[in-house]
Amino acid sequence: MGDWNNAMERIAAEGKVCLLLGAPDTGKSTFALELANFCLKKIKNVAVVDADIGQSDIGPPGVIGMGFLKGKLADLGEIELEKGYFVGSNSPEGLEIACVSGTFKMVQEALKLGAQKVIVDPTGAVFGRNARILKYCKVDMLKPDSLVVLQNRREIEHLVQPVSRRQECKIFRLPVPAQVRRKGREERRELRRQSFHKYFQEAKEIELNWEQLVTSRTYFRTGRLVAEETKNKIASSLDCALLHAERIPEGLFAIIRGGFNRAGVPLLKEEGIKRLIIGREEQFLGLLVGFLDGEGDYLGCGIIQRTDFFANRSKVLVPGDVLKNAKEVAMGSLRIRKDGEEIGRVKSHQLEKIHETFAGDDGTQ
Ligand SMILES: Nc1ncnc2c1ncn2[C@@H]1O[C@H](COP(=O)(O)OP(=O)(O)O)[C@@H](O)[C@H]1O
Ligand SMILES: [Mg+2]
Repeated sequence: MGDWNNAMERIAAEGKVCLLLGAPDTGKSTFALELANFCLKKIKNVAVVDADIGQSDIGPPGVIGMGFLKGKLADLGEIELEKGYFVGSNSPEGLEIACVSGTFKMVQEALKLGAQKVIVDPTGAVFGRNARILKYCKVDMLKPDSLVVLQNRREIEHLVQPVSRRQECKIFRLPVPAQVRRKGREERRELRRQSFHKYFQEAKEIELNWEQLVTSRTYFRTGRLVAEETKNKIASSLDCALLHAERIPEGLFAIIRGGFNRAGVPLLKEEGIKRLIIGREEQFLGLLVGFLDGEGDYLGCGIIQRTDFFANRSKVLVPGDVLKNAKEVAMGSLRIRKDGEEIGRVKSHQLEKIHETFAGDDGTQ
């Protein structure tokens, strides 16, 4: 702990933003807790940004949370959520832009609210091309005054290298404490389950009218709904149960139940449709969504239950009065049950998968 104390002294003494870096189970959150308590002895306004959307302490998983210390903490989970940013997955994979934007936004919010120190506790995604880009962009955007690097040997030097020449950023390389306990995949999943369960424990099923809210991070409800007659023609060409169809600049976005006949896809050309993007009804079931107000600020999460696409309504599980001031629904990619059990994931951070492109395609992907 000698190394840790020395670093904490120096970090507490200068600069506002402190970013931690380290692989999973390297003591990042433990250090964040120690540092936050340490800073509070010297500084009044200490904030923590919990950017670990997988193992969340502030707010539910899938949400980047920020809050202030009100007193000495025994656990980061005691921090009350002041502001949040909905990402909608337990992993940054495919959502790197949202992770960087969200972390940046939360740091800015903390500073705006008078934080004298902001400690950023991230995910342990440090290997691979996307993780490298994510961490690089995060450092670039946050411009931390101090960067705490927790590593066993030199396994994350690749992340430190680009920053090492930046004079305004002090780097603290610290060893992983010997007492660190490694968590397995299943344990992480169980911790997430409990965290979701706690969040949705008192949730009520409420009817959501899609016409009253705008959607984001999806194709769904971003185009022009197709008239009934055309919809029938499309359904008959594709020989499918067509629940929803709308024209979007990319082509036709359709939600179906069950299968469809691929041979019928070229027939859609007659309707002036150049590309078909198919979403499946089941992708909505259990989907984690975020509710945002008119400023785009996070209000809370919900879980989509049954959807009646004909009536443009879904039953949604939401805690408290999250829907009251909601103006926007941000679609996540994780699908969960009310008890927090993960039941699937909608890949590529969008609900939909491009199944068919065909002649007349303008070549864009
Ligand atoms: N200095 C320490 N003393 C005792 N236990 C520790 C210490 N540092 C970490 N741990 C334990 O090791 C586990 C992983 O640490 P954590 O801080 O959550 O890592 P990370 O945030 O990097 O994933 C946790 O269960 C934590 O309680
Ligand atoms: Mg952690």
